[in-house]
Amino acid sequence: MASSNSVKTLLLSENDLMSAGVMDMAACVNTIEDVFRLLGEGDYLMGGPLENEHGQMIFFPKKERFSGMPVTGPDRRFMAMIGYLGGKYNICGEKWYGSNAENHKKGLPRSVLTTILNDADTGVPFTIMSGNMISAMRTGAVPGVAAKYLARAGAKSVGVIGGGVINKACLLAIKTAVPSVEEAYLYDISPERGKAWAEEQSKVLGIRVIYVDSIEGAVKPADIITIATSGTSFPRIETDWLKPGCLVTFTGDADLDAEAFSRNTVIADNWKMHEAFLADGREHPDGIEAVSVVAPSYHLLEYIDAGKYDPSGIVSLGDIVCGKIKGRKNDGEIIMFLTGGMPLHDIAWGKSLYDNAVKKGLGTEFLFFGEAHWK
Ligand SMILES: NC(=O)c1ccc[n+]([C@@H]2O[C@H](COP(=O)([O-])OP(=O)(O)OC[C@H]3O[C@@H](n4cnc5c(N)ncnc54)[C@H](O)[C@@H]3O)[C@@H](O)[C@H]2O)c1
Repeated sequence: MASSNSVKTLLLSENDLMSAGVMDMAACVNTIEDVFRLLGEGDYLMGGPLENEHGQMIFFPKKERFSGMPVTGPDRRFMAMIGYLGGKYNICGEKWYGSNAENHKKGLPRSVLTTILNDADTGVPFTIMSGNMISAMRTGAVPGVAAKYLARAGAKSVGVIGGGVINKACLLAIKTAVPSVEEAYLYDISPERGKAWAEEQSKVLGIRVIYVDSIEGAVKPADIITIATSGTSFPRIETDWLKPGCLVTFTGDADLDAEAFSRNTVIADNWKMHEAFLADGREHPDGIEAVSVVAPSYHLLEYIDAGKYDPSGIVSLGDIVCGKIKGRKNDGEIIMFLTGGMPLHDIAWGKSLYDNAVKKGLGTEFLFFGEAHWK
């Protein structure tokens, strides 16, 4: 029997979240823009003593140490990402996921995610949510917000590198945030996957999405580029393929020379978080390469570590959204935007959907405890 001290947790499945509006990209882009404003104002905390850790990752060993213990593999990891977000949100929360590129063979998405939101005062977990759609949509919304602030005026053409789940959301968000977009060129290492992706997204977005058979073919015409591939082969992009004025968004990493960064402007979602990736990589026995699975800034971090790039000029998007720093300076400027992903985005979008779910009476209530047994 539930007492007045009972704790109830709302369980929200992917279907519940669909009904709560998880696919509403315009609302998601607004929420993520709001998060960047709070980041710029400093009204947030993430893990670790420097308050800016992306998350805690389980690095699997190269060889099986015990029967059943997972070994490392393409995009194989577990990650716990924690944060506090202020403003109207005032919540703590976590995104927790496992990822394995081999999942596709089992008919599962590459990563399987859970979002948990807690009362920032008591710690009560008031909702546990299926996290895949929350994460995909918030991940896409970040380059969407970046494109709104940093793409050159009248941007028409998007280059898409990697025809997976995340780039579906990235292209949707870019199209939502930049209404002048009218065509996209998609390259995927798997032509079969790529052609199907292009055909599907043409219908979904109502713009021309064309499959091209080289990275160059997707990059050269693009005013905005979105990179989100998985696995072990980073797409190689030559610096002179980049069109003057283009915005390159790294949601996943790509292989570019150091001069692609030093000749152009580099802006991060939160540069302090990428500095924490660098510190983690320096501590890891395998070196910086160990963070390549999670940091889309990995190639840049390597250049920094080798003294080939000076990061002192890198700014963060929150400061631009807040109006503290100017974004794009002119129409010819090439901007490289790095986004490593933050739990703050998941918990903000999760909270908006939770509020919708409560209003609509969605989800299944779970009695976490009636009267806590020991207190
Ligand atoms: N920054 C963030 O916030 C964030 C959040 C979630 C995921 N990600 C990253 O996004 C990336 C994509 O995730 P996903 O779930 O869409 O994966 P996915 O496996 O669904 O899709 C990735 C696609 O990339 C293609 N690909 C692999 N190597 C390629 C290459 N060299 N050139 C072109 N295409 C290539 C694959 O064939 C596949 O179709 C992952 O690296 C993931 O870590 C970033």
